[in-house]
Amino acid sequence: MNGLHPDLARILVPEETIQAHVKVLAHQISLDYADKGPVYLVGVLRGAFIFLADLVRHLTIPHVVDFMSVSSYGKSTESGVVRIVLDLREPIDNQHVIIVEDIVDSGKTLSYLYNMLKSRNPASLRTCTLVQKPKGPLDVPVDYLGFKIPDVWVVGYGLDYADKHRTLPYIAELKASVYTK
Ligand code: PRP
Repeated sequence: MNGLHPDLARILVPEETIQAHVKVLAHQISLDYADKGPVYLVGVLRGAFIFLADLVRHLTIPHVVDFMSVSSYGKSTESGVVRIVLDLREPIDNQHVIIVEDIVDSGKTLSYLYNMLKSRNPASLRTCTLVQKPKGPLDVPVDYLGFKIPDVWVVGYGLDYADKHRTLPYIAELKASVYTK
């Protein structure tokens, strides 16, 4: 395609498709929480900030936005230990909480956050991710999902490779030659 960065193999999810799905997810969340009071949205930095910013602007229900940042060691290993780098500003007991991720890859980040936030006694806890890779069974539910994508390295719409390509308006597949250099 004309204008595609040389690091990129192809566009996997075009901008219009992302935006259409973000609206659908926001509509579904707005319906599900219509009579529950404010929903407490937890964006997982850094990747989710673009998705969350678009999502909340389509919500028609009261909501609070907060962020967490976690760091994982040995992500490619089975252990995938995760530690909190930035925590929520407020307690979430008795809040209706949704964790908002850009991507579920191995699922370790979402699993860690889900179990950790569950232990803080929210009124309810759900998960929302824009994209999910087919990496086998997850031990936590994905309640709101934009797209399933193949197991390729993707960038754009919050997703980066070495801090590059994060702000592309679409999701694209990175050429293998870029990350095998
Ligand atoms: C990415 C992404 C998710 C996580 C998913 O974050 O934003 O949080 O990986 O991977 P997993 O399902 O295998 O745990 P990353 O650690 O790359 O940090 P970033 O968002 O700051 O780029």
